[in-house]
Amino acid sequence: MWKGYESLPAYFGGKRKLARKIMSFAQGKVFIDAFLGGGSVSLLAKAQGYKVISNDISVRSDIVGKAIIENKRTKLSEYDLYSLFKETDNNFIHDTFPNLLLNKDEKLLDNAFANAKSDLQKLLLIKFLFKYKPFSMLSNKIPENIATSNLKVIKPHLKYMFKPTKAFKQIKEQINQGIFDNGQDNQHHKMDVFDFLDKVQGDTVYFDPPYAGSQSYEEFYNILDSILIQEKIPVVKSKFNSGDAEAFLHKLIEKSMHIPKVIFSFGGPDIDGQKLLSIVQEHRPAELHEIQHKWAITATKESMQTATEILVVTK
Ligand SMILES: C[S@@+](CC[C@H](N)C(=O)[O-])C[C@H]1O[C@@H](n2cnc3c(N)ncnc32)[C@H](O)[C@@H]1O
Repeated sequence: MWKGYESLPAYFGGKRKLARKIMSFAQGKVFIDAFLGGGSVSLLAKAQGYKVISNDISVRSDIVGKAIIENKRTKLSEYDLYSLFKETDNNFIHDTFPNLLLNKDEKLLDNAFANAKSDLQKLLLIKFLFKYKPFSMLSNKIPENIATSNLKVIKPHLKYMFKPTKAFKQIKEQINQGIFDNGQDNQHHKMDVFDFLDKVQGDTVYFDPPYAGSQSYEEFYNILDSILIQEKIPVVKSKFNSGDAEAFLHKLIEKSMHIPKVIFSFGGPDIDGQKLLSIVQEHRPAELHEIQHKWAITATKESMQTATEILVVTK
């Protein structure tokens, strides 16, 4: 796997394995990623020389977008790292999420989050938490749709729990190798996708929306999002998970008629490719590509072997 990806958080639903296939359908010079998530597709587009315009409604993705997609040359320094350890009176994690971390690490992380000023520092802390609680299980409760046969992959990584300062240094190097200038002014936005589409112009738009019926990102990352803004956030589902998902798909297509090429990806269990294709075809000519894909964590043991990712691409 490409080293640049190590700069990104291991995001739930991330598309590292499929990014090259997705980008093989892109055209023109300006690539729009309307749901940035963990940034894998945008970072590859950036490496391929596109001007990237990314968007995501969440704070966690805003940090990735600013630190890695927009950023041309600022790298994490030793000072950035050591300034995270300064003593503070912050006790947010300790008070709000007891039992999330080992006692000895609570104060270290509470200090680090209070001291983190830059998006790069915040990205380092996100990556640390994802390694401390692998697969972003930032709660001691395991989401219902995760196969128990996969529990071994979500066991905490002991080396991160016992040597946080060493882990910080390692993560700093990983992040720095994903920072480069591709000669373009890449941009990241933190907007609701429909407001974003009203304003953005480009040659290709990539849509990787949350999947209807799957666990919402807002629930999955509620603890992380709360820590990032240092305030307990009530769980509010995205409309893609809770509302009429089909109506939102129609709206996504209607709002992107000004963009010559549209690439959709859909994954997860029970995805009906023909159905998604016919929704897109109500608006524009399109074709379906089915890609066999192995999931590290998935809804059932069976789909672990056979999961298919659907790409619907306009012609
Ligand atoms: C499937 S993920 C994208 C994964 C990404 N392609 C990657 O490789 O990491 C979907 C993203 O949509 C974002 N999202 C949910 N509702 C949104 C909305 N209304 N507007 C913009 N982004 C939204 C979530 O925060 C989440 O990061």
